[in-house]
Amino acid sequence: MEDFIAGLPKCELHLHIEGTLEPELKFELAARNGLELPYRSVEEMRAAYSFDSLPSFLTVYYEGMRVLRTEPDFYDLAMAYLRKAAAQNVRYAEIFFDPQAHTGRGVPFDVVIRGLRRALLDAEARLGVRAQLIMCFLRDFQPEYAMATLLESLPYKEWIAGVGLDSDEQGNPPLKFAEVYARARAEGYLLTMHCDVDQDDAAEHIRQAIEDIGVDRIDHGVNILEDQRLVELVRERGMGLTCSPISNGYVTGSLKAEGIRKLMDLGVRVTVNSDDPAYFAGYVQENLIALHEALQLNEEELAGLERNAFEVTWLPRRLKDSYL
Ligand code: ADE
Ligand code: ZN
Repeated sequence: MEDFIAGLPKCELHLHIEGTLEPELKFELAARNGLELPYRSVEEMRAAYSFDSLPSFLTVYYEGMRVLRTEPDFYDLAMAYLRKAAAQNVRYAEIFFDPQAHTGRGVPFDVVIRGLRRALLDAEARLGVRAQLIMCFLRDFQPEYAMATLLESLPYKEWIAGVGLDSDEQGNPPLKFAEVYARARAEGYLLTMHCDVDQDDAAEHIRQAIEDIGVDRIDHGVNILEDQRLVELVRERGMGLTCSPISNGYVTGSLKAEGIRKLMDLGVRVTVNSDDPAYFAGYVQENLIALHEALQLNEEELAGLERNAFEVTWLPRRLKDSYL
């Protein structure tokens, strides 16, 4: 079955580009930018990647991305991911980036997005992998800062498919960003947001995301299972849930495979993705394999997960159909 999974045309919908920063590239960028890292080797750095919660992961994630300074740094980061994606037969990816994690330490928005955009264009031309960008706001900062970032993005609107919301969800519910999301929608952006697995008030956060904010998709979202009405809403609207089993394992101690199985059986458009693969040691292929090992999925079920993903992409119908 691993050969079948390797050969399957794939679609990645939940991937933080900063979470693809592998230790080798981190060392290269640190040297390029004259920065010292608190590790002597790639092995030592990897050994420090031990997380048991979202906050414990986020500390390492934000610390790691400080090596990203210039346009070529962001280009190299995205190009490295897209090469990996091509090798795993990923045909299309929607890629999150966290502008505030860079502008907040003095790297201009323009530098970040130009580097990423150039890589996307080169990857499409040279590797045959199509990709779009999704700009995420950091939910543990104030909504005014998110709004300022939204306004800063407007000159680059044509390069951004939509907006997302990530970082620490504890005490930072969707409604905190209602105004920002309303403006993003008015500007033509599509909307998604993280509703992380097993957060406090998980079902209420999902309800707010769907009913009050009107998101087009939910990142993670397995906890809709706590409320039959949410399952119905998501199913009726054909909304996608972008799950990531290996990430779930790191953050909650469980892949949530049984929950994903239930969602598949209920006819919810569940998809399998890699979240932060350099930190969680698994790109989309490894996530599919992990889920298969837990659930003994057959070929039709595995292909169905990828069909779900292509179906809920933010591509025009004509392009969507070309993948289905
Ligand atoms: N930012 C980067 N990775 C994240 C994750 N897995 N959850 C929330 N915010 C994130
Ligand atoms: Zn995520």
